Amino acid sequence: MTAYLLEWLNLLVRWLHVIAGIAWIGSSFYFIWLDNHLRPPRRDEDGERGVAGEVWSVHGGGFYHAQKYAAAPLPLPAPLHWFKWEAYTTWLSGIFLTGLIYWYGASVYLVDPSVLPLSPAAGVVIAVAFLVGGWLVYDLLCRSPLGKREGPLSAILFVLVALLAWALCQLFGGRGAFIHFGVVLGTIMVANVAMVIIPGQKRMVAAVALGKPIDPEDGIRAKQRSVHNTYFTLPVLFTMTSNHYAVVYSHAWNWLLLIGIALAGALIRVYFVARHKGGASPLPLAAAAAILIAVMLAAAPRAPAAAEASGGVDIEELRSVMEARCANCHAAEPTHPAFPAAPAGVLLDSNAEILRNAERVHQQTVISRAMPIGNLTGMTEEERALVDRWYRDLERGAGGSGRD
Ligand code: HEC
Repeated sequence: MTAYLLEWLNLLVRWLHVIAGIAWIGSSFYFIWLDNHLRPPRRDEDGERGVAGEVWSVHGGGFYHAQKYAAAPLPLPAPLHWFKWEAYTTWLSGIFLTGLIYWYGASVYLVDPSVLPLSPAAGVVIAVAFLVGGWLVYDLLCRSPLGKREGPLSAILFVLVALLAWALCQLFGGRGAFIHFGVVLGTIMVANVAMVIIPGQKRMVAAVALGKPIDPEDGIRAKQRSVHNTYFTLPVLFTMTSNHYAVVYSHAWNWLLLIGIALAGALIRVYFVARHKGGASPLPLAAAAAILIAVMLAAAPRAPAAAEASGGVDIEELRSVMEARCANCHAAEPTHPAFPAAPAGVLLDSNAEILRNAERVHQQTVISRAMPIGNLTGMTEEERALVDRWYRDLERGAGGSGRD
């Protein structure tokens, strides 16, 4: 019953998380688009009122006229919209899901003894340390004298982000490592909003209300953080969907593939930001495509050596492997306490079901090696080779299953 209720909690919070994330990233992309499309105001009186730029747009059957002021307009207009709850809600729901799936379920989803035999509690402590430490290191760097030099700062940030990917993949199973890479960067993004951008805006508004000059540092700092957030966005969104792609996260070189995909995401964003301003060079886009193709080629599964060996795998032999390694989760009534029903609806507790799922079984145990999850049931290399031989026989039509 508890597992069933947790499943619903997971469902509802995930739904909220996706909705809030769309609202946050959508509004953030919109404002970057807006800023980059500003034209000088057409009417002189707008310029005299302090309007620095304007954009006309049409959407949903209405015409919209947005104007950006060089300085805060006086008196401050009300109501003034802030755009912060989108980010906060995304983080709160996201960290809840991380806790529910990857920390509460650390033994299944975070720790992988074949990577590093951590206890679940140690895994959780390390994960939390990465979240807090990631923000502290990043924030200190931005506030240090180096923070004023955009070029070296970006280079150091890239190296640190790459180190993060590498370190997480040495500590956790691929699936948990990838999601935590996204959670660390996503936490930095939201902390940028909560700790730097919004407090700066509050100080600016307070200064304007008192008729005092605005500290230009607040604007400069907010701009820097929001630029970083823009380039983190695509890598973070990739990791949030990455748990569907075991071909990437289960690969022996998963950290390098993650760095490649994250870099490609940042480059794609570089291209779009430049494109808003007009006359963008297609170079970042071409570089991103080249990196993605390289990652795709590097991750391509190599035929296991056993593929050459002759077949003759008996379905009963295979079934006993499935029973030992898979069926505690993949059964109509799983005996594994974390699963109220067969995960992904895949049953592997009868010959008919195993045959029906043959392609997916092969995909998950031989090609991507995502199953058994975290290799909790200790599937051996011989057993994987057995699945491979059995599947190749089936493909050749030698398995007597009636398939070609
Ligand atoms: C400890 C529990 C557990 C064990 C043991 C386990 N699985 Fe899974 N399996 C899961 C979970 C959880 C998912 C859903 C993964 C996800 O959400 O991405 C899954 C998903 C799957 C899928 C569907 C993946 C897809 O998206 O097509 C297949 C196929 C699969 N497992 C095969 C196997 C095989 C074969 C074994 C044994 C060699 C096995 N599993 C052992 C938990 C387990």
